[in-house]
Amino acid sequence: SSGQAIDVEPLTLTRFILAEQKKHPHATGDFTALMNFIQTAVKAVSSAVRKAGIHRLFGISGIANTSGDEQKKLDVLANDLFINMLKSSYLTCLLVSEENDTTIVVEPEKQGKYIVCFDPLDGSSNIDCLVSIGSIFGVYRKADDEPVTTADALRPGTELVAAGYALYGSATMIVLSIGNGVNGFMLDPAIGEFILTEPDIKVKPRGKIYSINEGYSQYWDQATAKYVESKKYPKSGKPYGARYIGSMVADVHRTLVYGGIFMYPATSEAPKGKLRLLYEANPMAYLVEQAGGTATTGKERILELQPTSLHERCPVFMGSKDDVQDVLDMYKSFG
Ligand code: AHM
Ligand code: MG
Repeated sequence: SSGQAIDVEPLTLTRFILAEQKKHPHATGDFTALMNFIQTAVKAVSSAVRKAGIHRLFGISGIANTSGDEQKKLDVLANDLFINMLKSSYLTCLLVSEENDTTIVVEPEKQGKYIVCFDPLDGSSNIDCLVSIGSIFGVYRKADDEPVTTADALRPGTELVAAGYALYGSATMIVLSIGNGVNGFMLDPAIGEFILTEPDIKVKPRGKIYSINEGYSQYWDQATAKYVESKKYPKSGKPYGARYIGSMVADVHRTLVYGGIFMYPATSEAPKGKLRLLYEANPMAYLVEQAGGTATTGKERILELQPTSLHERCPVFMGSKDDVQDVLDMYKSFG
């Protein structure tokens, strides 16, 4: 064949979820529809991240337009897109966004049964220098028929019905779990569809890479410090390689694909670390566990933490299970 062949039966994300839903006799198709709205938000964010419409920003001269229309910042634009798509789906009742101090309650006439916690554009420090960034989301089903309140979003990650992220890297990919494994779908810009390209992602039991912001090492606790030292100066064998992008989605995606460990520990400056439980740690922990890995604070399983506030933080160690076990052993030995 010519190599230009067009797949006449592409396994799109929509088709994949639909087929999964059909396995459940009571499925309504609502989740498939919800994911379609999320996909649209991701496509629009992806297009904006890749600077579509650059001629309107810079003109032919390549010099930024200083007169007139203020350019909406990318993270604000991503947040507006997610909120608008989710509200207009008629499938959600409550939204939690990193960008909003309080929950967003969907207008009663548009309410549906899902609660979505999301970070519309994570990796803010990488936006302006064109390094990979991502979106993260976790989906809960409302537990009762009472009017929705903030408490409905304060659920442990074990109750997630789905979680995923979109990585705006050298390509755009959605990685999703709906509770039976993890699958990766690459955006084919030619047809605007996410195609299953990484079926049943499993993280290897041990990797060769550690990922942490080493600049803060003077603030680490002893367990973290000892653990990292043990990877750099092993008693036998080769030291681990170090990789740190500073975008959680990209660092976790690499960890899933290549193996190893991603860490954002507690520090003396930030005793609960930096990453947010509801829309960063939990969805990523869910995906890592679904891929056969482990996700912990060093002391507790992330998914079992009972959230008490919307934007709370927790220390994060996640990835290959044997690598994370080494961290757990280290914490145990320091009491
Ligand atoms: P953000 O929500 O402001 O983008 O911060 C979250 C990001 C994560 O993607 C990443 O893992 C972490 O911050 C990196 O932080 P640091 O620069 O302290 O290493
Ligand atoms: Mg974030």
